[in-house]
Amino acid sequence: MAQVIVVGTQWGDEGKGKIVDLYARKADVIARFQGGNNAGHTLVVEGRQTILHLIPSGILHDRKICILGNGMVIDPDVLLQEIDDLCEKNLFPPDTKLYISHNAHIIMPYHKSLDKAREARKGTAKIGTTGRGIGPAYGDKIARTGIRLCDLLDSETFGEMLRINIEEKNFYLTQFYHDKPLEYAAIFDEYSGYADRLRQYAANTSLMIDQEIKKGSDILFEGAQGCHLDIDYGTYPFVTSSNTAAGSACCGAGIGPTKIDAVVGICKAYTTRVGEGPFVTELTGAVGERIQQVGCEFGATTGRKRRCGWLDMVLVKQSVRVSGITGMALTKLDVLTGIDPIRICVAYKTDNEQFSESVPPSTKLLGQCRPVYEDMEGWSDDLSGAKTMNDLPANAKRYIERLEELAGVKMSLVSVGPGREETIVLESPFD
Ligand code: GDP
Ligand code: IMO
Ligand code: MG
Repeated sequence: MAQVIVVGTQWGDEGKGKIVDLYARKADVIARFQGGNNAGHTLVVEGRQTILHLIPSGILHDRKICILGNGMVIDPDVLLQEIDDLCEKNLFPPDTKLYISHNAHIIMPYHKSLDKAREARKGTAKIGTTGRGIGPAYGDKIARTGIRLCDLLDSETFGEMLRINIEEKNFYLTQFYHDKPLEYAAIFDEYSGYADRLRQYAANTSLMIDQEIKKGSDILFEGAQGCHLDIDYGTYPFVTSSNTAAGSACCGAGIGPTKIDAVVGICKAYTTRVGEGPFVTELTGAVGERIQQVGCEFGATTGRKRRCGWLDMVLVKQSVRVSGITGMALTKLDVLTGIDPIRICVAYKTDNEQFSESVPPSTKLLGQCRPVYEDMEGWSDDLSGAKTMNDLPANAKRYIERLEELAGVKMSLVSVGPGREETIVLESPFD
């Protein structure tokens, strides 16, 4: 038995969905622990694509327990739509074991309105959020004015909390942002309907995970976003509003750090970023365009084009440190086929400083950093059929070995295509 955390090591979209789906075959429980429907996790099974925003990426396997942990922020409308979509595709049988923590916070209409109004007011200084209300929902959680699932399920409590919130949020919306006010009665009715449908999934998920651990179950904790979108360790303020590093799994799922056996860091063979913020290795010319197209780098949540650049090992090294990564999964290596040379960023430099172990904390300074590259020879062979390391061209193997050296961590897996089977598994974290 093992408890394994999977996190992204970059700015999200590293391929966490594919890897979690793959590892879920062995796991008994798959739990999300932070974020909300800002996430878009893509699974490709037998050629069929499924994009999940809230439901854990273990849902396509039968008889797995899937948990939405207390650290998440949940938009009930999106969750119910996701359940309905899966039902329509016969991927959510009546005995599906889906549970939502009583303590998870609920995204309300005023969170979405405030998210959009704040971004609009910032103009060119905007963060480029997904507009899903994530920041304002976590803001309310920290300000102790948030509405949790257990509050939503108690009509009287919900009514009281909603009234106080509507009064406050309408003041901001109308007086500060010159936006439309929201109506109490309409929201009360809409959310009471969601409560009726969500009641069956509400549970003490921390206790449930503990009981599973005692039974000897294998548990997989599925991170969303990536370590550099972390509210503490990311490129603040161009980050999301939760802790995305591995430590967040403990608080966000309700288990102690002593229970964790392994942390797998997902690393794309190059770097992408959606939204605004500094990006030292960004490629704005033909190579970036090629990676964007070959890698189909469009946001799985908002459809925005992802910005693309060379692999940045300063980012990855910081993620290995902050998340205690024990094994790496390298994804989308196939996308680099035909590019020569392939560059790896090993440090940043300014006129008087060099950074190789850690990303500078100041956004201004990071914006002034220039990449220091190491060049590697590329390859032209198609990688998609590779099943073992020996099936890879020598230069692809060299690239992987150099990344292991720089990260100080071994590869557990190399992904060479979006499908489950397009994977070289070197070591399973559950063994
Ligand atoms: P996540 O948010 O980390 O789960 O990643 P996304 O699903 O947002 O984006 C990853 C995209 O890359 C999806 O479209 C996946 O189907 C795709 N993908 C994952 N692994 C590979 C791979 O090894 N090669 C290729 N070509 N595509 C991949
Ligand atoms: P997955 O789990 C990539 C980015 C947004 C924006 C910033 C803040 O699919 O990897 P937010 O709506 O969270 O307040 O937006 O974070 N962002 C992501 N980028 N992948 C994600 O999730 C992301 N979730 C948020 O684009 O720059
Ligand atoms: Mg994604």
